[in-house]
Parts: sequence; C-alpha cells; structure tokens
Amino acid sequence: MSQPAVSFFLEAVQSKARAVISLTGLVAVLFIIKIIYNLYLHPLAKYPGPKLYAATPIPVSLAQLRGKLHAVTKSAHDQYGPVVRLSPNELSFISAPAWQDIYARRQGKPALPRDRTFFNDMLVEPQTMTMANDTDHTRIRRSLNPAFSPRALLDQEPILQKNVDLLMDKLQERAEQGLSTDLRAWYNYATFDLIGDLAFGETFGCLSTSRFHEWVQMVLDYFFAATLLHVVHRFYPLNKILAMLLPASVMKKKQRHSEMAIEKVHKRTDPQNAVERPDFIHHLMKAVSSKNITSSELDNQASILILAGSETTSVTLTYITYFLTQHPEVLEKLRAELQENFKTESDIDLLSVNRLQYLQAVVQESLRCRPPITNGFPRQVPKDGAMVDGNFLPNGTVVNINHWAAYQSASNFSQADEFIPDRWMGDARFDKDNKDVFQPFSVGPRNCIGQKFAYDSMKLILSRMVWRFNLKLEEVSKKKADWITGQLAFVSFHQPPLNVELEVRSQ
Ligand code: HEM
Repeated sequence: MSQPAVSFFLEAVQSKARAVISLTGLVAVLFIIKIIYNLYLHPLAKYPGPKLYAATPIPVSLAQLRGKLHAVTKSAHDQYGPVVRLSPNELSFISAPAWQDIYARRQGKPALPRDRTFFNDMLVEPQTMTMANDTDHTRIRRSLNPAFSPRALLDQEPILQKNVDLLMDKLQERAEQGLSTDLRAWYNYATFDLIGDLAFGETFGCLSTSRFHEWVQMVLDYFFAATLLHVVHRFYPLNKILAMLLPASVMKKKQRHSEMAIEKVHKRTDPQNAVERPDFIHHLMKAVSSKNITSSELDNQASILILAGSETTSVTLTYITYFLTQHPEVLEKLRAELQENFKTESDIDLLSVNRLQYLQAVVQESLRCRPPITNGFPRQVPKDGAMVDGNFLPNGTVVNINHWAAYQSASNFSQADEFIPDRWMGDARFDKDNKDVFQPFSVGPRNCIGQKFAYDSMKLILSRMVWRFNLKLEEVSKKKADWITGQLAFVSFHQPPLNVELEVRSQ
C-alpha cells in the first residue's frame, strides 16, 4: 500500500473509532440522565425502596432470574413498609385493601389491566382466557364457569376418585416393598393425570407407568421461560432483540406444548370418539354448540387449565406433607379429626372432606407459608390513573402483590414464618392477624376459576394419604433439615425431591 493510501486507511479507522466512542459516550450519558431522572424526577420517586432498584430495572430482573424475587421483595417491605418501589416503574404492595384496588373491579370501572410485560404474547397463546381482552375473557370464562360449579365437581368425583385410588395403590405397593418414595414426583403424577383426564379426556399415564410424562417437564420449563420472557419484556424497546437471544429451545417447547394440547383436544372432541363424560371439555363443547365460544377458542383453553392447575396443586400437596412430617402434633390432630368423621377410607369423599375444619386450616396455613403463585401476577395502571391503597398512581405504573412477601410479613401475621394451623381455628394468639391479606387464589374477575376444585382435590388426596400411611421424612430429605429454606421461586417455588418413608397403617 502506498503512503497516502495507508494514512487514508488509518484516518478512516480513527474516525470510525471516534464515532463508536462518541456513540458509546452518548448512550452512557443518556443512561446516567435516565438514572438521575428515575431517582429524583420520576412520578414514583417519592416512594420508598432500595435506591439501586429504583434506578434501573436491572436489579429486579437479576433477582427474578436468580429465583430470589420473593426474598428481595420481602426484605424491601421489612425495611421500607407496606408499599415499596422495586423498579423505576413498579410498586409492590402487601396490604389487604391493595387486593381490591389492584385486582377487583373498581367502582363503575373495569379491573386494572394485566401488565403486558408479564402477560406478553410470547408467553401463552393469544386465544387463551389468560391473554384475552376483557370482553373475550368474560365470554370465555362464562363458558368455563359451569365446569367448576359445585354440581360439576360432584359429577367429576368418580374421575377424581379413580385417579386418587391409583395413586394410593401405587404408593401402597411401594410402601410394602420398602421403597423410598419421592412424594414430590408422585403428587405431580397424580395432579397431572387428574387434570389431564378432565381437560383432555385422558390421563398422561404418569401414575400407571410410574413415570413423568414429558408434559410435566414442559410445564416446569415453562415457568422458567415465563420468568425469562418477563425479564426480556421489561427492557422495551430492546425486548424484541433480547427475545432473539433466548435459546431457540424455549420457544420450540412452547410451540410443541400448544401442538400437543390441540392434538389431544381434537381426539376428545372428534365426533367419532363421542363419549359422554362430565369433564371440563364437556362444558366447553356445550359452549361451542351454543356459539358462545369458537372451536379454536376451545382448543386453546385446555392447555391453560393444565398449566394453571397441575403444578400449583402438586406443589401445595408436597409442602403440606413436608409440614406434617415436621409437626407431628399437627399430623395427630388431623388424623384425630379424620377418625372422628370416618369409619373407613372409602367414606372419604368430596362432600365430607369439606366439613373438616382442621383439614381446611392445615391447607390454608400451608398456602400462607408457601403460596404456589409465589410472586403474584402484576397489573398496570391505565391512562386515567388509579388509586391503590390510598395512593393515586399515574398511567403505566406496574403494581403487584407478592403473595409470599405479604403472607410472611410480620406486619400482617404474628409468628409469620411458623407453620401454625391453629391461627385459622380462632386461636386468640392470632386475633390481630391481618387475615384479609391472604388471597392465594387472587380476587376479581380474573381470580382462580379452579379454587374450589383445587381445595377439594387437595383435601381428598391429603385425607386419604394421612388415613392410609404413616409419613416419615427420609434421611436424604431430612439431611437438608433445610429442605424448605433457600428454595428458589420462578412462577412457583422450585422444590427438590421430598423422599418420604411410607408405612401402611393398620386399620
Ligand atoms: C393451589 C392451587 C392453585 C392456586 C394457588 C391457584 C392460584 C391462581 C391465581 C392466583 C390465579 C390468578 C391469576 C391472575 O391474577 O391473573 C389463578 C388463575 C387461574 N387458575 Fe388457578 N390456582 C390453583 C389451582 C388451579 C386449578 C386446580 C385450576 C384448574 C383446574 C386452575 C385454573 C386457573 C385458571 C384457568 C386461571 C385463569 C383465570 C382467568 O384468567 O380468568 N387453578 N390461579
């Protein structure tokens, strides 16, 4: 290269480098200005909270990715009070009135819309009730309501009992062979089979083969993917670019999940396989016949039921079992209640388990100590603003109640971190507990449609477990006396195996 060509080349390189440096500098300056704005001039600047979190959405996103959002939120509330700022645009609440303001219909106005960074269109199919706009949601939910009425639940009881019978028989076989049993896995088999049976017309065969169906893993992966997608969408307008960086496997799994669900639903709804069974699909098919929903809307609801209903119920059953092994006095009291009310295990049915008050208290206390929808589902303030717990909030503010932070707060419950079912039995020591803050199934038009089903199925399984087996935590799970401490939470808590020694009780 001649001398002038070399200097021309060097100059060109230097000018490019200068441009890159200036651009980086400009971005850095804008970033600093944004931080200063967020800390001192933003409409939410007056709310308390950790300064680092108020400056950018990075710390809250990292907490989420590390599975520690629940713990970070709780310590922020412990330090700063009932309302804290966890990100430039986000406030977290832990008071009872906030439930009504955030999730219920407001006087003459609809409930606050869901936060679109969480409920983004990469997460679930657009036609599911979860993603539907308010009008479509109301219509789809009305079509599904009859599937969850008390009458429908009684009609579903034979399907429920059939799956619980199989769980009991399989566990008894293992107990008699002296095998170690990971109840975390077995509850998963049972709840997936049960909800699969009702939502698709057939089980996943987990109980009969004593093995996980790939669907179970898909749901667990899905909870992690939901966290990833939420974090990515916090960084608008970079979200589309960041989403491209997500492993292709995440989106492929989502795609496969939807296809498999639709395949199964088609098998159930195919007129050639026409069967009369009182499952969830039966009610949705009726809604299609009366033109309340379309058949493609039907296709999309089944998978949301599996997603919403199976892992939540299984996680809760695992926690209750763990708590019972740690609190023999509670287990004895529960067993005494069962013995007072039933002569044999076959007397235990849906109607009768609902009369047992101590059983109800045990389930409530477990949901309080370890709510399965751990971090809650955020909402966003619409353009005319909204009042939340006495605060007028501007357009776009993301608001949330983190279940775990609210239920573990000493400002709401005394001895908040202890498992004490008596607090739900009128024990005077807990008179001052702020029980209205306990809403594990949420409130308002988008609360849990499966609440009664969840209570009924959990109570049935639990009563029969306690009736039939002595439960003892195995050394391997006991060694982690901290089986429960330090668990990570993505949408729900991530539980390690719970190895329990089962002994068939003499009747
Ligand atoms: C311990 C068990 C369960 C807990 C703690 C739980 C909790 C919740 C919560 C907090 C929501 C509100 C979501 C939001 O605010 O956007 C919800 C929604 C929902 N749950 Fe559950 N759930 C449980 C079991 C079930 C079961 C067994 C089913 C069905 C078989 C189910 C089906 C649904 C559906 C379909 C929705 C969406 C409702 C809508 O968008 O209108 N859940 N659940």
